[in-house]
Amino acid sequence: MACRICNSFTEEVLNLGLTPPANSLLDSSLAVQQTFPLVLELCESCYNVQLRDCLSSEELYLKYLYITPESTMLTRHYRYLYGYLESSGYIKKESFVVEVGSNVGLFLKFIRNKVSRVVGIDPAENICKIANEAGVDTICDFFNSESALIIRDQYGVPDIIIARHCFAHNSNPHVLMKGVTTLLSDSGYLVIENSYLLNTIENNEFDQVYHEHMFYYSIRSMMALLNIHGLRLIDVMTSLIHGGSIVFVAKRENDGIIINPSVNEYLECEQMFINRQSLKNFADKAYEIRGQIGKLIKNLRNTGKTIYTYGATAKGNTLLNFVGLTCNEIPLCIDSTPGKQGKYLPQSYIKVIPEDEGLLNPPDYFLLTAWNYRDEIINKVREAGNYHSKFIIPIPFVHIV
Ligand code: TYD
Repeated sequence: MACRICNSFTEEVLNLGLTPPANSLLDSSLAVQQTFPLVLELCESCYNVQLRDCLSSEELYLKYLYITPESTMLTRHYRYLYGYLESSGYIKKESFVVEVGSNVGLFLKFIRNKVSRVVGIDPAENICKIANEAGVDTICDFFNSESALIIRDQYGVPDIIIARHCFAHNSNPHVLMKGVTTLLSDSGYLVIENSYLLNTIENNEFDQVYHEHMFYYSIRSMMALLNIHGLRLIDVMTSLIHGGSIVFVAKRENDGIIINPSVNEYLECEQMFINRQSLKNFADKAYEIRGQIGKLIKNLRNTGKTIYTYGATAKGNTLLNFVGLTCNEIPLCIDSTPGKQGKYLPQSYIKVIPEDEGLLNPPDYFLLTAWNYRDEIINKVREAGNYHSKFIIPIPFVHIV
């Protein structure tokens, strides 16, 4: 295949088999679903890791079930991210901020009193409705040069464009970049936050691979993408959110560029640890974890233990489907998102129920498929008076809490 960033040849590094899109929960236990190959490839020219087969954005996002959860961990992260952008001088009181893929607008809600104006853009109608009802001005559209022009005409030119965890969700990042270069002011900042490939491979997060995640960005692949569009990476910052994320800050080439030393520091580290061998190790670990989880669940079931999953996450669906677990072994999944409750996880047909229902009659074990909220969820369960259920944590290595 060709790299979707730099067009060089790519090589397969991991094949997770045929799976349905991870966020496509089913309305009925009898629903039939389509599956698509889930294959990861590496471009050794720009160190982009991408899916070989990408589904169209229209198919995935026009009606989307992923709603950013209300979480103390996320609120803390918003504070951290805003603090970094503000102390670095990238965001100011007078800034007009546009967020791409703004979902229900939680981040914009957090910053709106700290800046002059905020506008979101998101393609999912159901999600834009929630954001607008919450008072966060949100345009319902895909972000590209056409919608960028609409934003420019209706709202003006932003000082900062933020795209959090959405650049990986589009099979053609050049379309997003054209939207950015159409819209951004001459001295404006582009801030992209994404899961960081180095964390993904170092923490064995093979479950982050699913159809909605079409790209696994490294500093080198992001630099290659930015350079093609006349933008320069000027700063990077990392955080623990979503299993390890990176924030890329970029500016237009021609606007007085000062590059923060963090770029080279992270780059040097990345050059040592992201390569063909480390991706091979990552694939080996995926198979190892698959074997361990499969064996553990089988043994627990043989001794009569009950197991639910906690978190109807996309990554959980990759894990369950790769291991081959279904409602036969795990009857229920608990999740706080109302739109997911009453539905069934794709391929495994595990029924999703609300947290209070699951906690009323708890199982012996929870397979923690939302391991990125590990402390928050375990505390919640313990505070609800449940000291009985144990947690199987699958990532970065299989262990029980
Ligand atoms: P997320 O971590 O965004 O996973 P992915 O990107 O893999 O889909 O989703 C977290 C899920 O966990 C979401 O559906 C809400 C659920 N959740 C709970 O059920 N309880 C909680 O306390 C938290 C924090 C999340």
